[in-house]
Parts: sequence; C-alpha cells; structure tokens
Amino acid sequence: MRVAVFSSKPYDEQYLGVAAAGSAHKLDFFEASLNCDVVKLAADHEAVCAFVHDDVNGQVLRDLAEGGTRLIALRAAGFNNVDLDVAKEVGIKVCRVPAYSPYAVAEHAVALILSLVRRTPRAYNRVRDGNFALDGLLGYDLNGKTVGIVGTGRIGTVFAGIMKGFGCELLAFDPFPNDEMTKLGAKYVDLRELFSNSDIIALHAPLTSDTHHLVNAATLSVVKPGVTIVNTSRGGLIDTEAAIDALKDGRLGYLGLDVYEEEHAVGFFEDQSASIIQDDTFARLLTFPNVLITAHQAFFTAEALQNIAETTIANLTAFEETGSPVHEVGA
Ligand code: NAI
Repeated sequence: MRVAVFSSKPYDEQYLGVAAAGSAHKLDFFEASLNCDVVKLAADHEAVCAFVHDDVNGQVLRDLAEGGTRLIALRAAGFNNVDLDVAKEVGIKVCRVPAYSPYAVAEHAVALILSLVRRTPRAYNRVRDGNFALDGLLGYDLNGKTVGIVGTGRIGTVFAGIMKGFGCELLAFDPFPNDEMTKLGAKYVDLRELFSNSDIIALHAPLTSDTHHLVNAATLSVVKPGVTIVNTSRGGLIDTEAAIDALKDGRLGYLGLDVYEEEHAVGFFEDQSASIIQDDTFARLLTFPNVLITAHQAFFTAEALQNIAETTIANLTAFEETGSPVHEVGA
C-alpha cells in the first residue's frame, strides 16, 4: 500500500522504515505538516500517516478522499486533530496507536519534578561556570510528600507507582477509578481536595471540554502555597495566564511543562532558535527560574518510537488485508 507520511522527521523515517521492512508498503516521507496547502502530496496514496500537529480537517479529508486515500493512520494516541464525522462521511477510516509506552511519559513527568525541585538545570549551569556555591539550590525531599494525580489511566497509574517508590502519599481524581491505583494505596478524592492537599500535582488526563483549563485561577486559589505542578498531558489543561499569576505571587512554587496551549504556533517539534518568539505568554514563562519546559518530548524514547512504528505498520497491514485497521477510532 502507498502511504504518505506527513510531519516526518529523520527518526520517523528510521523507525517506520525498520518496522515496514519485508512488507509491501511503500512509504513516502514528507516533512510538511498536513493541511489544505499540501494535501495534494497525498494524491494516489491509499493511506496517510499523520502526527499530532497535522490538521486533518473536513476539507483536507474531502481532498484526500478525492485523491484516493482510504485510511488515516495516526502515529499517536490522540485523535482530536481529525474531523471524525467528515472522515466517516467520505469513507476514510481512522486508526491510531492507543498505547506505546506509558513509562516514557510517566518517567518524563518524574524527570521534570526532580529537575525542578532539586534545581538541576541551575546547578548544571553553575558548575560549568565554576560556581560551586549552594545558595539558591535548596530543594525538598519527595519522601513523605502528597502527590495528587489527575487522570489515572495508563500513564497516571505508572506515574503513581514510581511516586509510591519515592515514599509519597497518593491522592487521585478520575471519573473512572481503577483498582490498580487503590492497590498502590491511592485515595480517590474530589478535585478540590486534591488541589488543596497535594504538594505535587501531576496532570495525566486527556484534553476534553471537562479538563480544559482545569488548572485555573479558582483551583490555584486553594493550592498549598509553593505547590509543584507538572503537565505532560495537553497544554489546554492549564490556563497559562492564571499559572503565571500564581507563579508571580508564589502560590505556584514549581511548574514543569512538556506541553503548552499554543505549542503548535510556538513551533514545537521545529528548530526555532533563529526566530523571535512572538508568543508573549510563552516568553514570560521562560523568564521564571522555577519553570521548566520541554517541547512535547515525553513520548520520545526508543521503546516508544519502536512501538509506535510497529503498531502503525500493523494497522496498515490489517487494513490492506481485511479492510479494517487493528486500532480503528470509533469502530
Ligand atoms: P488513558 O486513556 O489511559 O487515561 C486517561 C485517564 O484520564 C482515564 O482514566 C480517564 O478516565 C481519565 N479522565 C478522563 N476525563 C477526566 C477528567 N475530566 N478528569 C480526570 N481524569 C479524566 O490515557 P493515557 O495513555 O494515560 O494518556 C494520558 C494523556 O497523556 C493523553 O490524553 C495525552 O494527552 C497525554 N500524552 C502525552 C504525551 C507526551 O508526549 N507528552 C504522549 C502520550 C500521551
């Protein structure tokens, strides 16, 4: 099957190439993000392989259908960038990679927390500059702290296990509690109790209308002073302006972000080092010594890339052989 791979990076080409070896699929890699301007590149490709910032809107889907595309194979778990109604209407199936490594994301959340509370980036720069003073590097023990986890699915549960290992108490909020969390000793509470009683709050819920701006002026008004918040989920879970206000008056002690509301516009996944940052809110975040931002890299481990590539190829093969991908969205 001919597959047009959009938003392709060298690592996509490497991992998908290995996973597709020996199959009959012919992968054409395009660096461009999929949108109305470049959709023609996919003409005569039965499948399109898309990533999180590809804009698979209604018009794109209609153009793809006209060009002969019958499958959108997302190499990601989320599918909020695809208009599923139009996909159905034009007869294009959509599939995804539901899970590739909860460990990758959970471990990155822990890396953000440890780096923040032990001030590792600051210490690294100091030592390289011959400054071996400890003033300003005072941290806190994780042992004995209360960690509130919002969203206890695959990633949230792995994260809970790691934090349990540090000797933390676990609070959790999820509309669908799971037994594994209870076995870890987590106590399910309502959101207000979680925000009021946690020393560290980790966001692992998907972006929905319920979770949009879940961290906002109201929730930040009840937190323990100096709380640490880490978000490896989706940027839209945090009202960034409210977080900046809380950072300025000290209510928010540390903020770790792997995702940002406007990350696409800022240019996440691209080298923007020679450009001027146009997003003043993002620029303000970068000025805080107690904010650590990574550019949506929590998923980025060798194991995760291998799983993503193998599941994507399995989806393509199943679609070719049976007409249905393994992990069809909305099936
Ligand atoms: P999952 O589907 O296994 O778990 C999500 C959990 O959130 C479920 O238990 C669900 O019941 C819960 N949830 C739904 N609505 C909620 C609400 N209103 N409040 C609290 N919890 C709610 O998903 P998984 O694999 O654990 O992924 C979690 C999120 O991590 C994804 O939605 C995605 O946004 C993000 N992610 C980020 C990556 C990165 O590289 N930064 C990579 C992969 C996922």
